[in-house]
Amino acid sequence: MKSLKPFLIAAGAVLISTSAHAMDGDPVAGEEVFRTCSTCHNVEEERNKVGPHLINVIGRTPGTVEGFRYSRAMTEFGEGGAVWDEETIAQYLADPRGFVRGNRMAFVGLKSEEEIANVIAYLAQFSETAEEGEAAEGEAATE
Ligand code: HEC
Repeated sequence: MKSLKPFLIAAGAVLISTSAHAMDGDPVAGEEVFRTCSTCHNVEEERNKVGPHLINVIGRTPGTVEGFRYSRAMTEFGEGGAVWDEETIAQYLADPRGFVRGNRMAFVGLKSEEEIANVIAYLAQFSETAEEGEAAEGEAATE
């Protein structure tokens, strides 16, 4: 019995961390928030607007969408080994200018943590690499 204990603790930790993720944001509310992004970002087709499309943005190396002319700052951010995940996107959206100094996204940022979590949950639906299970739904239909 004694030897089972570390295993149970580890299993518990996994459970806690996955459920914390699932609770992160509400993708339906996030769709509303995304309206402020959609003037500049596509998430339904791989077409760039003022900003790069955001399909599969979760797991993406910053500054790597083909055919989009990024700022030097964004390209260098990616070359430095950064990856867009829930955490880095949240930090970027809270303070776009401060988080990637010199980048070109002309957006003041989102004030509320809830809005940030929700919009990331929405983006996750269009990212195959997102941790949320149902993420790739839309993808299968279009490819
Ligand atoms: C006024 C236009 C504009 C708005 C509004 C805007 N963005 Fe951007 N976004 C950009 C541009 C331009 C870039 C590229 C920046 C660069 O190259 O320095 C960018 C880059 C990004 C990136 C990095 C993508 C990559 O391929 O590295 C993410 C993630 C992102 N935006 C998310 C959002 C989200 C989410 C919102 C809404 C909450 C938003 N943006 C609102 C213009 C905008």
